[in-house]
Amino acid sequence: MPTTMDAGPFRVPPQPAAGDELNTAKFPKLNYRRSTAPLRWFECATMVAIDFVGVTKSYGKRVVVDGMSFTVAPGECLGLLGPNGAGKSTITRLLLGMATPDAGEITVFGVPVPARARLARGRIGVVPQFDNLDHRFTVRENLLVFGRYFGMSKREVEAVSPSLLEFARLENKADARVAELSGGMKRRLTLARALINDPQLLVMDEPTTGLDPQARHLIWERLRSLLARGKTILLTTHFMEEAERLCDRLCVLEQGRKIAEGRPHALIDEQIGCQVVEVYGGNPHELRSLVKPYAQRIELSGETLFCYAPDPEQVLTQLRGVAGLRLLQRPPNLEDVFLRLTGREMKD
Ligand SMILES: Nc1ncnc2c1ncn2[C@@H]1O[C@H](COP(=O)(O)OP(=O)(O)OP(=O)(O)O)[C@@H](O)[C@H]1O
Ligand SMILES: [Mg+2]
Repeated sequence: MPTTMDAGPFRVPPQPAAGDELNTAKFPKLNYRRSTAPLRWFECATMVAIDFVGVTKSYGKRVVVDGMSFTVAPGECLGLLGPNGAGKSTITRLLLGMATPDAGEITVFGVPVPARARLARGRIGVVPQFDNLDHRFTVRENLLVFGRYFGMSKREVEAVSPSLLEFARLENKADARVAELSGGMKRRLTLARALINDPQLLVMDEPTTGLDPQARHLIWERLRSLLARGKTILLTTHFMEEAERLCDRLCVLEQGRKIAEGRPHALIDEQIGCQVVEVYGGNPHELRSLVKPYAQRIELSGETLFCYAPDPEQVLTQLRGVAGLRLLQRPPNLEDVFLRLTGREMKD
């Protein structure tokens, strides 16, 4: 097992063994004939894992991805955040060669996509936004079918299946049909399935949506262990806690454009940088004028007032005299950043 250090924003990827080529023998059914030369791990280790340069994609007249550029280093976890319809899933489809860009360049470990997408996909594990498991088959059979897609023999799949099922806590469901699984179990199976070919890069589109808190924490723990083993992750999520816990860096999108990028805590400091007082109850419009002199910024979301204040005690002093209020003072978080950048109204 390669050893990996957690070294700040970029984790150090596992060091390659000389001659450790992208293993065409392991995946004999992938069509490598179009490649001019096999990729070698020592070449890959020095490359960026994902390189998006000026990528644009339109559907009809609608520009869905608008000149996007970003990179992901090997061993890094990059989070894509953005409101519904911002273009996150489209970016993951472009990365996999399932959609063709109108302009720009995409490479995955140096492999151009979509030109050599099949080669690139051999190194990527995918958790799509919507499960595409085969409901007629059992859990075990789904792993087998997927492994066969990567050219693995039945024996090879059977050798890795127990550890994958244990990873997803589905050991007791190996012979259950997918149709009999709960939504969370299906999501965990999709994650296990994504790991069948021991991919270097995981592309995960909302991997924990629909999971209960225990299952979500289990997946977070599993993803951290994959990062510690040097895997690279591109993750889209609507859970700010997930982004804050897992991602080294975040890219915030709106209408297909990057509107902010940075490490989670740097974004919180840059965009908010002060304490927050949440106010529940009372007349928010009257309360707003009461606290206005003491708040750097005030936002109303539904019936809750958010006061961003360098000195929250001044805000609290004003509000403590008002009957029927519930007050909560807290540090700023990524949700504040997201809502500041993308607004509090629905975008669809
Ligand atoms: N195949 C397609 N044909 C036409 N329009 C599409 C297609 N795929 C996506 N779109 C449009 O592109 C935009 C971005 O969609 P996308 O699925 O990438 O958003 P998203 O950021 O993943 O949103 P969500 O958070 O809801 O999953 C949307 O307006 C969507 O309607
Ligand atoms: Mg999506």
